[in-house]
Amino acid sequence: MNIELRHIHKRFGPVHANNDINLTFQGGRIIGILGENGAGKSTLMKILSGFQSLDSGEIWMDGQRVDYTGPEAAIEHGVGMLQQDPLDVAAFTVLENFIYGQRGGLSLGRKAARDRLKEISWRFGFFDLDPDTPIAQLSIGQRQQLEIVRLLSQGVKTLILDEPTTGISAEQKVVLFNALRELAHNEGMTVLLVSHKLEDVIALCDEVAVLRAGRLVGTRAMPATTRELVAMMFGQELPPVKREPVGEGLRPSPTPAIELDRAQLRGKRVTVSELSLRVQPGEIIGLAGLEGSGQEALLRACVGLIKPQAGRIQLCGEDVTGKSYRHFLRCGCAFGAAGRLEEGLVGGLTLTEHIALVNEYQPVVDWNRARRLTQEQLKQYNVRGRPDSRIETLSGGNQQRMLMALMPPKPVLMVLEQPTRGLDVDSARWIWQQLLERRATGTAIIFSSPELDEIVTYSDRILVFYAGRVTEIPDASRTNIDELGRLIGGHSDGAAQ
Ligand SMILES: Nc1ncnc2c1ncn2[C@@H]1O[C@H](COP(=O)(O)OP(=O)(O)O)[C@@H](O)[C@H]1O
Ligand SMILES: [Mg+2]
Repeated sequence: MNIELRHIHKRFGPVHANNDINLTFQGGRIIGILGENGAGKSTLMKILSGFQSLDSGEIWMDGQRVDYTGPEAAIEHGVGMLQQDPLDVAAFTVLENFIYGQRGGLSLGRKAARDRLKEISWRFGFFDLDPDTPIAQLSIGQRQQLEIVRLLSQGVKTLILDEPTTGISAEQKVVLFNALRELAHNEGMTVLLVSHKLEDVIALCDEVAVLRAGRLVGTRAMPATTRELVAMMFGQELPPVKREPVGEGLRPSPTPAIELDRAQLRGKRVTVSELSLRVQPGEIIGLAGLEGSGQEALLRACVGLIKPQAGRIQLCGEDVTGKSYRHFLRCGCAFGAAGRLEEGLVGGLTLTEHIALVNEYQPVVDWNRARRLTQEQLKQYNVRGRPDSRIETLSGGNQQRMLMALMPPKPVLMVLEQPTRGLDVDSARWIWQQLLERRATGTAIIFSSPELDEIVTYSDRILVFYAGRVTEIPDASRTNIDELGRLIGGHSDGAAQ
């Protein structure tokens, strides 16, 4: 049977559990439905097996559009699903349960039913499924075997198993996998195996479809390495957000956004000496290094939070050496600290109060205006929260987006400590899209990150910090994570200069 899912959508309140899923399943194959917990796997399979309705989308089978409600109707179309927790009628025996689950089962007769149960269970190696055992005494693995036998005897051609290896023994897993191979490869059935366990998928599947946060990330044929599958599940190998070369669409500026001239910066653990740096409008500088290697000192010096012990700092050509943080902000700097709640956001204040803090300069706040503005900002920056939510009640991603909403729209320089710390892949990409939009209008960005791939992906130039020493990689597109990893560990053999 050939099954096609087209544009499947399903929401639970604010959660978009299935977001435009398009997939095709061919008979005779075992297909892994892979994804982290909460990715939307069970939802999609429940839709296909009639346990859940879809909001929109279509299911096609062998070129025909089908429309059904309820699991019985799905079984009539040949699709059966083994739920994560099998629903049994516990007072019955295996045989009674088998009979109960048949179409017209009661007319089948006990003897015929017993033979049928035996025949199917033996064919698939379920040798210890005794017809006269009460269901209550079965192990999870045996209940699962009974469910499979029941679905098969009902003529199911597509068998869906949701996390079937949870709670079964290693021997039962071997039996189960052999049965599934038999069903798919010798009997031409479609087997869909839902799992978040890579080893199961690698052991069994002919192909995989990977879901993440409600979306289909992609499909691929097996074999695949654990690394490749992890990359699909967690998104490390997503194509990077499109990034134009520096200065594209910008008038070349004779004045750097910021310039440090032989600055000496004292950090918490190390002192950076003789650091000279010019950052042009629209340029992104990534700072790499183990924590405490001096990159924090540079970031903070760039917004006036620490003052250089020697040397000079200029912003847009103005000497700001020794000036206050406020002065740096007035000159067009914006700062996003890694400890969002400690520095960028104020715990205990609502979202509206935050917006009022940065936008209201009169002594008396116009709260109606602030609330309206907040509502607009929440929408524009996709922040999930209400104007009167306290900031600490928001998730990390939403706090980060709120921080973006609080930043001036066109800063000369954005200084960001670990701008995507603790964020999921999608939120991180969203933040970078915002940053790249600002960069395209001429904002210079200096950021640090413990994620080397983030640094390689988004930087035009990279400064690598090791024990206060700085190595510059003048063209980030010509380095890679391995080289960067060596440099932050203090090995200079891979240096680009
Ligand atoms: N019946 C439901 N009511 C509300 N939210 C649900 C329901 N079922 C699933 N969800 C939500 O939808 C998302 C996807 O869930 P699910 O399909 O069970 O993921 P998976 O099986 O990949 O772990 C999750 O955020 C989950 O909390
Ligand atoms: Mg699930």
